[in-house]
Formats: sequence, C-alpha cells, structure tokens
Amino acid sequence: MSEPHRIQVIHGPNLNLLGTREPEIYGATTLETIDADLSALAAERGAEIECFQSNHEGLLVDRIHEAIRWADGILINPGGLTHTSVALRDALSATRLPVVEVHLSNVFARETFRHHSYVSGIAVGLVAGFGARSYRLGLEALLAVLAES
Ligand code: DQA
Repeated sequence: MSEPHRIQVIHGPNLNLLGTREPEIYGATTLETIDADLSALAAERGAEIECFQSNHEGLLVDRIHEAIRWADGILINPGGLTHTSVALRDALSATRLPVVEVHLSNVFARETFRHHSYVSGIAVGLVAGFGARSYRLGLEALLAVLAES
C-alpha cells in the first residue's frame, strides 16, 4: 500500500463566520461542517487532511511554510486575500506543492475587483461558485492530480 496523500486545507479571513456571513452569497453551511465533510471525504479516499483558518495573513503564510515539511498538496480558499496578497501567492509558490484554489461564490459574477486572483496563476486549478460543494470538488480534483503524479 502506498502512503496516504496528505493535504493542508487553508481558509482565509472571514471564513470563520460562514453560516451567518452573507448567507445569500456564501450559503448557510458553517466552516466546522465544511471541515468535517472534507475530513470524511478524505477518509473515504484514504487521504489525510489538516484544516486551518486564520484572519491574519502572516499566520496563513507561516502555516503554508510548515506544509512544506509534511503535505503533498494544498487546498485553499484565500478569502479576500485572493485579490490582494502577493505574499500569500509567493508562500504557496515557494512550497512547490500542487495548489487548488476554491471559492464558495462565483467570483467572476461579482464585483470586478474579485475577478483578479493572485493565486490562480500558481494553482493547478480553480473551483468557484458551488457553495460548500466547491471544497469537495476541489479536494477531489487535488487528490486526482496527486494520484496521477
Ligand atoms: C470568497 C470570495 C472572496 O472574494 C471573498 O473575499 C471571500 C470569500 C469565496 O469563497 O467566495 O471572503 O473567497
């Protein structure tokens, strides 16, 4: 048996408020439920995940650096930092790990400032617009990429 693939899941600023934060845009599912769902899916697929949320850019960067030591891939919803953070992009890029970017909302159907992502250019792919399901689809895609590599 090969080693299980290990995934670092990262949630950026304000995603701790999921469930009550603008539910008409982000849905009613809490972050706790999303993480539990991802853990169950990972277990079904024989993978392991670690979930981390922070409202602080530097803490996100630190956690991404730590992933270099143990993770095989990163699933990330950078929240608002998607559209602003060169530092987050550089940290992800420095890991040389495959990165899948996810968004609950369809960022391209929203304000124009959400149409640009600093992360997409270094990601293997992007899932957006499927609510909490975006995370499941993103994890499936990342595990498929790892299975092929
Ligand atoms: C988001 C989209 C971002 O534009 C926004 O700032 C978020 C959430 C999403 O999941 O749809 O915080 O990443």
